[in-house]
Amino acid sequence: MRSVHLNQAATSFPKPREVVEAVHAWFDRPPVDAARGGDGANDPVAPCRKELAGLLGVNDAAGIVLLPSATHALNLVIGALVEPGCHVVTSTLEHNSVLRPIAHRERDIGVAVTMIEPGADGTLEPASLQAALRPSTSLVALTHASNVTGSIQPVEELAEVAAAASVPLLLDASQTAGAVSLTHGRLPGRVFVAFAGHKGLMGPPGVGCLVVPDSMLPQTIVGGTGMRSEDRFHPPDLPLRHEAGTPNLPGIAGLRAGVRFVHRIGVEALGAHRAWLVERLREGMRVMGHIRLFPLAHEDGRVGIVPFCVAGWDPDEVGLVLRESFSIEVRTGLHCAPLALRGLPGEPRGSVRVSVGLGTAEDDVDLLLAALASLEGC
Ligand SMILES: Cc1ncc(COP(=O)(O)O)c(C=O)c1O
Repeated sequence: MRSVHLNQAATSFPKPREVVEAVHAWFDRPPVDAARGGDGANDPVAPCRKELAGLLGVNDAAGIVLLPSATHALNLVIGALVEPGCHVVTSTLEHNSVLRPIAHRERDIGVAVTMIEPGADGTLEPASLQAALRPSTSLVALTHASNVTGSIQPVEELAEVAAAASVPLLLDASQTAGAVSLTHGRLPGRVFVAFAGHKGLMGPPGVGCLVVPDSMLPQTIVGGTGMRSEDRFHPPDLPLRHEAGTPNLPGIAGLRAGVRFVHRIGVEALGAHRAWLVERLREGMRVMGHIRLFPLAHEDGRVGIVPFCVAGWDPDEVGLVLRESFSIEVRTGLHCAPLALRGLPGEPRGSVRVSVGLGTAEDDVDLLLAALASLEGC
């Protein structure tokens, strides 16, 4: 039985051939990078920044900081901007990569936190953000799209509210990078964007990215960069300002190839492919009496996520049967975002999450629908 990967929101699979080849090619050449005195011939860092800047409408590629993961990028901003006496606004839709760094600041230094909640369509209201702001608010940290519901947030409007109050916005674009267009240069105010390279951007795991709007963010991770070794202090200029230690060069080579691939196909086309598959899934599930789609009423399927439950089944049991009996991989439980289903009828403790991507074919969706149909009455 062929295995079907319907957990694309966790990480994309299969990676495009050119991504695999780029990683492989990096190992085939001597590992010298420009920053450490090499000629740059096998240095993917600057080209990767350039590709990312082009894709995300970042005016200056120096504002693209390459890190080990989205989690590191989110921690970097939260750690630097949420200080004693401050207030932070976030939402119940967030991944633990946002919730936990904030919870630790709350516990360790006593910062105040306000969580805004989505409406019935799964989106955050700009008015809720407006109401949550205080004079002491030092950061608004919100997701561009929920990894549990797939709901895409009205980021332009939310950014306007934060900008009007002169509060920096940290956007978690882990689920949207490569699926939903975002032009950083057009968002008003001081906006940081963090995302993972191994999801919609088709790169290997181990590279995350932070778009920084200026060089005012305090430096938290400092050390060796291979440059200006005589200085006691870490370089203050972007992008090295926030990059220390040996980077994941093969991973960055793969991400560069992934971003080029995404650019070539087009983010709009990739989002449309996901939305089409999501509609096919929803149509198939709506007619199954034992399947309960979550009432999030968000029609935009570009992120490629469909959350549901099977009547009488624990979500984990559904995942186990799909894996063991049908070789279909989905994700079940709370998806590292434990508050995202709060307020829904019955306060579900978790869900089955199917997520599709570029590597998903119509057949994969149909195999899942047939498997789900067979669960009725079991
Ligand atoms: C919305 C969201 N934010 C952050 C992350 C963290 O990404 P990483 O584990 O690559 O750091 C994920 C990963 O699942 C995510 O879905």
